[in-house]
Amino acid sequence: MSPSARGRFVTLEGVDGAGKSTHVAYIADAIRARGHRVVTTREPGGTPLGEALRELVLHRPMTHDTETLLVFAARREHVEQVIRPALARGAWVLCDRYTDASHAYQGGGHGVDRARIDALAHWVHGDCTPDLTILFDVPLAVSRERLARAAGEGRALDRFEREEGGFAERVRAAYLERAGAEPARFRIVDSTRPPAEVRAALAGILDAW
Ligand code: TYD
Repeated sequence: MSPSARGRFVTLEGVDGAGKSTHVAYIADAIRARGHRVVTTREPGGTPLGEALRELVLHRPMTHDTETLLVFAARREHVEQVIRPALARGAWVLCDRYTDASHAYQGGGHGVDRARIDALAHWVHGDCTPDLTILFDVPLAVSRERLARAAGEGRALDRFEREEGGFAERVRAAYLERAGAEPARFRIVDSTRPPAEVRAALAGILDAW
């Protein structure tokens, strides 16, 4: 297969409560409508082992370093078993979170040294990095209100959604810093708008890209 037949790697990012998950299926359909095959997946997760690690990371108490190592262990399986093979077949990969989430949550949120995260990223996936990253951005008041509503409706919040003491602010700031540093890769979507407007913005991003 010629190198030009490689698929594209698209990731979705944002703080908890930014509304990213609402739009995953729409983006997959929009990519398909533009004539590409799509593999939709998520992190932590995307493989049976990765999903088991996700349960641990989201629900068991652990040190910040352990958490970092586990998300990258899950990622290693995912890259080898799912992402690289799909891209090599020419499919597009649409992944709900990837290494930017490790920089935002483990780095920004939990203070893990950026150089360590970069070293793990280099080891675990090397140049298998996203071609396009859509960052769903909302002010903290909005994400907090959405999480409070979800909790009020009986959804159990995970470890990250329950974090306090400026955690979400630091996660958001780390995402925005990464987007600022790599404007060619990132597109920021103002996700406070109604879903139909967000979908229109997403379609515009795919058309212009
Ligand atoms: P999320 O993607 O928000 O799933 P859902 O929509 O089902 O709630 O949940 C995944 C959580 O994992 C999220 O809080 C961020 C966290 N996470 C990290 O801390 N580091 C990572 O590297 C990844 C991929 C996710």
